[in-house]
Amino acid sequence: MAHVIITGASAGIGETFARTLAAQGQDLILVARRKDRLTELAEELGRQHGIDARVLTADLARPDAAATLADELTAHGWALSGLINNAGFGDRGSFEKMDLERQLAMIQVNVTSLVDLTWRLLPQLRQQGEGFIINVASTAAFQAGPNMAIYYATKAFVLSFSEALHEELRGSGVRVSALCPGATESEFASRANMTDTRLFHSGTMSAEAVVAEALARRQRAIVISGWRNRLMVWAGKLSPRWLTRRLAGWLQA
Ligand SMILES: NC(=O)c1ccc[n+]([C@@H]2O[C@H](COP(=O)([O-])OP(=O)(O)OC[C@H]3O[C@@H](n4cnc5c(N)ncnc54)[C@H](OP(=O)(O)O)[C@@H]3O)[C@@H](O)[C@H]2O)c1
Repeated sequence: MAHVIITGASAGIGETFARTLAAQGQDLILVARRKDRLTELAEELGRQHGIDARVLTADLARPDAAATLADELTAHGWALSGLINNAGFGDRGSFEKMDLERQLAMIQVNVTSLVDLTWRLLPQLRQQGEGFIINVASTAAFQAGPNMAIYYATKAFVLSFSEALHEELRGSGVRVSALCPGATESEFASRANMTDTRLFHSGTMSAEAVVAEALARRQRAIVISGWRNRLMVWAGKLSPRWLTRRLAGWLQA
């Protein structure tokens, strides 16, 4: 059976994609930096569901990571039916005070490696005739985000790129979807220094609910997770840009 490759499968939403797809009998390739976690997860899912779960470790902040991953897939001869570009991280703070290297790494992981991997793996997905790509963006994609300027900008890129690709690939058999979760339970908030923000205090969704909706609606160009987030995005569209960006800044001040 063809595999679905998931980046950022060692925690949070990516791990939940892995658990959900494995329960449906889907073979998987799990990608992240923490090899111990991925190996443990692959063994568990193989045992529980009888699927073939493979592990490839990669640091997607490295410019050569996507090319190396694509070469490894070819070397192993694993066919692909799906690509879930989920790996990503954020960081809270003022643009000028935050470490430049970390912000550039964010662009590399959230944007450049996502594009690189998509371009390299798309021919394989086309070959299968029935492939899918889910790019994990965020509700952050819909407005600018003071105090998280680069993170919001990377997610705006992912949304725009995915929507365009959705149209370019219409009729090809490969469906492309941008998944836009709002605040979600995972390691994200603690790693982004956001646990004490109004955004995360105002309620979170479970990764299970986010993933269930993403998979059920993956034929759509944009999947916004949950009615509350859909309402926020809709209200944002009716509001002037100065207001939505100030509100975003306030939510994560
Ligand atoms: N949680 C939220 O509130 C929320 C909301 C909207 C969108 N999102 C998006 O959802 C996606 C998943 O995040 P999450 O919430 O599940 O966060 P998480 O629990 O922190 O998981 C992030 C995953 O990305 C991987 N990753 C991070 N940097 C990497 C790198 N340099 N190379 C390879 N893998 C890397 C991590 O693995 P290793 O550390 O093992 O490498 C981990 O598996 C991200 O794109 C995030 O922006 C999250």
